[in-house]
This record gives sequence, C-alpha cells and structure tokens, in this order.
Amino acid sequence: MINDLWYKNAVVYCLSVETFQDSNGDGIGDFQGLARRLDYLQGLGITTVWLMPFQPSPGRDDGYDVSDYYNVDPRFGTLGDFVEFTHAAKQRGMRVLIDLVVNHTSDKHPWFQQARKDPTSRYRDWYVWADKRPANADDGVVFPGVQKSTWTHDTKAGAWYFHRFYEFQPDLNTANPYVQAEILKIMGFWTQLGVSGFRMDAVPFVIAKKGADVKRPAEQFDMLRTFRELLQWRQGDAIILGEANILPKDDLHYFGDDGERLQMMFNFNVNQHLFFALAASDTRPLAKSLEQTKPRPASGQWAMFLRNHDELDLGRLTKTQREKVFAAFGPDKDMQLYDRGIRRRLAPMLQNDRRRLELAYSLMLTLPGTPVLRYGDEIGMGDNLALPERNCARTPMQWSTEAFGGFTDAKRPVSPVISKGPYGFQHVNVAEQRRNPGSLLNWMERVIRMRKEIPEISWGDFDIEPLADPAILMLVYRWRGNAVRIVHNTSDAPREIRFAANDYATMTNLLSDDHSEADEHGKHCVLLEPYGYRWYREGGLDYILRRREVDLQK
Ligand code: NOJ
Repeated sequence: MINDLWYKNAVVYCLSVETFQDSNGDGIGDFQGLARRLDYLQGLGITTVWLMPFQPSPGRDDGYDVSDYYNVDPRFGTLGDFVEFTHAAKQRGMRVLIDLVVNHTSDKHPWFQQARKDPTSRYRDWYVWADKRPANADDGVVFPGVQKSTWTHDTKAGAWYFHRFYEFQPDLNTANPYVQAEILKIMGFWTQLGVSGFRMDAVPFVIAKKGADVKRPAEQFDMLRTFRELLQWRQGDAIILGEANILPKDDLHYFGDDGERLQMMFNFNVNQHLFFALAASDTRPLAKSLEQTKPRPASGQWAMFLRNHDELDLGRLTKTQREKVFAAFGPDKDMQLYDRGIRRRLAPMLQNDRRRLELAYSLMLTLPGTPVLRYGDEIGMGDNLALPERNCARTPMQWSTEAFGGFTDAKRPVSPVISKGPYGFQHVNVAEQRRNPGSLLNWMERVIRMRKEIPEISWGDFDIEPLADPAILMLVYRWRGNAVRIVHNTSDAPREIRFAANDYATMTNLLSDDHSEADEHGKHCVLLEPYGYRWYREGGLDYILRRREVDLQK
C-alpha cells in the first residue's frame, strides 16, 4: 500500500512549459527545454511535475481556454516531444500530472464554433444557452472587476451562452452524456501518453447544474466517481487532484465517504488560514481549519501549497482577518486582485526575509498533506506588478546571470524576465544559488529530502498539541508506532516552550544537531528563535534506523 499510493508522500512542482525553458530560441518555453531541466527538478527532490495547460489555445487565459484537447500547442513542441518528456520523467522515477480544463472551452474551439452557427448541430447542446438574458446574468462572476457577467449574447447563435469565467470561455454542458463521454476520452488519451493523472480545474463548476433556470447550482457528485472509475480501469495508479475551493462541510462529498471520488484536493481552507497565521502571528484559526479538514477517507490526501499561479484567494477569511493579511502582505491596491486576494509572489510578500520564507515553507512541508511548490519559489523569485492581473507572478524561470536569466536566447521572451531590482535574474537565479551552500535553493533541497523521509506526515494521524501561546503551532504525527513532533513559531520574538513528549527522553532534531533532552520531570524545554521551527522525531538517533526496519517488514 505505502508504495502504491504514491501521491501520499509525493513532492509536486507546478510549472508552465511556456515560461520554464526555451530550447529553440523563439522566446517561448517548450517541451525540449523542459526535458533538459528534469535533472534539476530531480536534484531538488521533486517526484511529480504538474504542467499547466499546454494544449492549443488562443492564450487569453494562459491556456485555460483550450481549443483542442488532443494536441500540444505548436509553440511548445509536438505530441512526440510531449511523449519524449513523459518518458524522460519516468526514466528518472518522476510522474507527470497535467491540467484538465473541462468546465469550459475556448470560444475558438470548433465545438463552440459549430454550436453557435448551427442550432441543429450535435454540439449545440454541448454548451449552455438561453433565448433571453437570464435574470441572474450578473451573479457569480469569478473575476470581479474584470469579468462583467456570466451570460453573453452571441449574435451568430442568436442566443445567450453561459460562462462561469471570462466571456471567451463558454461553459460546457457537463450534464450532457456526450460531453461526459468526451471528458473520459480526453483523460484516456493523455494517460496513454504517460501521465499519472490530472489537476482538474474548477471542479465545483464542472459538476454544478448549469442553466438559466438554475437558482442554486447543486453539485452532481456522482460525476466524480465516473471520472475516477475510468482512470482506475485505464491505469490503476492515476489520480485526480481537484481544484475546489469549498467549505470543509463539503470535503467528503468531493473525496467520497469511501474514497470513491477524488484522490486529492488542494486545501484552500488551510492555505488562507496559514497566511493569516503568518500575518498575525496567531495560529488559532489555522489550527481550527486543520481540525475542520481532518476528516477524509484513508486513500484521500490534501495538497498543501503556499502560492500558485492565481491570486492568493482570501475569500474564506473574516473581513478582519482578510484586512490583516492585506495589510501585512499586499497593502497597495495594485497588489490586490478581484476584491479578495493578493497577486504577488511569496518572496516579496514576506519582504524576502529568509527566516519567514523558511517558516512558510517549513509549514507547507509539514502540514498534513502533500506539498505542492510553484516554480521559481524555490529560489525566491519576485513578481512584476506592471503586468496585468495574475500575469505578474508568471514571469520566466531565472536560471542564471545570462541574458534573460538563461531562459531564452531570443531577443524577446514571451513574457518579460524580471531584470531590475532585488528580484532581478542578476541576483536571483538557480546557477548562483547552486554554488552557495547557504542559499534558499540548497536549504529547500535539504528539507525536501528530509520531508520525504517522514511518511508519518503523509500517512499518520495528527494531533494539535494545546499550547498557551497562539503564535506557536505544535503538531504531533503518529504512525506505525513512531511519532514526529513539528513546532513553528510565527512570531518575530523568541519563544520558550515546555512540553512532555510521551516519555521520550530524547527528541531527535531532524534538521540539525540541536536535539532535545527531557529534564528530570520528563519535560522538554525549547527556545525557539523568532520565526523558528523544529522537526523532531521522538526517540534517539538509532530509533530512526529501527523505524526503517519496520517499514521493510510491512
Ligand atoms: C482556475 C485556474 O487556476 C485559473 O488560472 C483559471 O483562470 C480558471 N480556473 C479558469 O480556467
């Protein structure tokens, strides 16, 4: 089991082919370039690469507007290059997840083009239409301030079509069995080409009832079981990682009570409260969200993340909490987006303070779930707020001090490389950090290495140890007779903590030689530095070796 459910103890790295590495000098990243960087990712300890959309697309939402589900955008290479890439990943023991964007298509997709021009076309009913402007056309926009409505009139069709996102992303009528069959076909296609599963975009909207007469878009959860079953038949170890920013009360509907739906979901709840903890030095709401999202089936797993390619969505915080996070990490209007979030990268949000970056990453790596890193965050890349909306945090990867950070030999990269100020490629790049043993990159490599050796976090049960100090979060994971104890100090002041550790006289510090010995009353006393953190295994050093033997006997 432990090796079969590979996603439980994985380390996922999210990237966009377009901005990772150009190999042919046209200024656009491509699969051949990415394949050359696989050794870098393997060296960092990444086990799974998640690719953002790379299919043909007019590119009006960075590829989340697909116009052909069965191909590679020629700017990035060919299907042949894709298969070479998945093969190269497999040779290194790495898996590939890809985005599956089937809530909507691009308005340029041939299905939509047929649907709008011919009411008798079989594709007409693949989309969601209304003869009149629906009364709720202004409700439910996802990108307030940029997107005006969820229904748009199409003159060719002589009707209104529904689009949960931008008007160039018409929603698929996912209740239509033919659309469902097509989604399964898309999944089957890419699994044949070597992927281990999908990051499913906008899951609540995919399964929601859609239509002009729908007042409350009830979810059709059984659809998730259908997707899962197809995968299980085609390729038993393939998974779906759902993007679903939902309330904890709905978690089990998405995982399935018996784990028969999604294997993984991003934990948006924990993500938002984690940023609140970092902003306010108060871990109580984070602890609460961890408790609330604890129930999940044994095979289900949370994906833990800090920043992703979208804005940091703070919509689930209270107004006061949100204002605290805005004030700390995105005080200017220009740093905020869609009335609910922050569009910056992690390093500038944390003022490039190494202690706070380590604290944030240490939390992400040790909260109950599978960590998902965003490309460039491992070297502390910055953002370019001059770029519109979410593009500010999607600039090309910074590899070296060469022109355009070594991303491309072309005269003009597809998106500007950050080249000025403290986050410019001259200062923040992989090559320089590789040579520096104390760099963020090398720190990251070391903690990822250790994280992979702590399966308790992925597999075990956790308890939040009650401490009087709200700035401190202490988690204890137990699994197969072993325990690890993880402590974080979110405050900018040193904090002394005392606790008993299940009669263990020694707690082994997994990241340094600073182990903890209990006093004569069996109490441990630890002085945490400002923003300090500790990863302990209960028991002495040789205990780690015994644990390994237990593993082998499973
Ligand atoms: C969620 C994706 O993460 C986001 O980038 C995209 O704009 C929307 N879904 C629409 O596909």
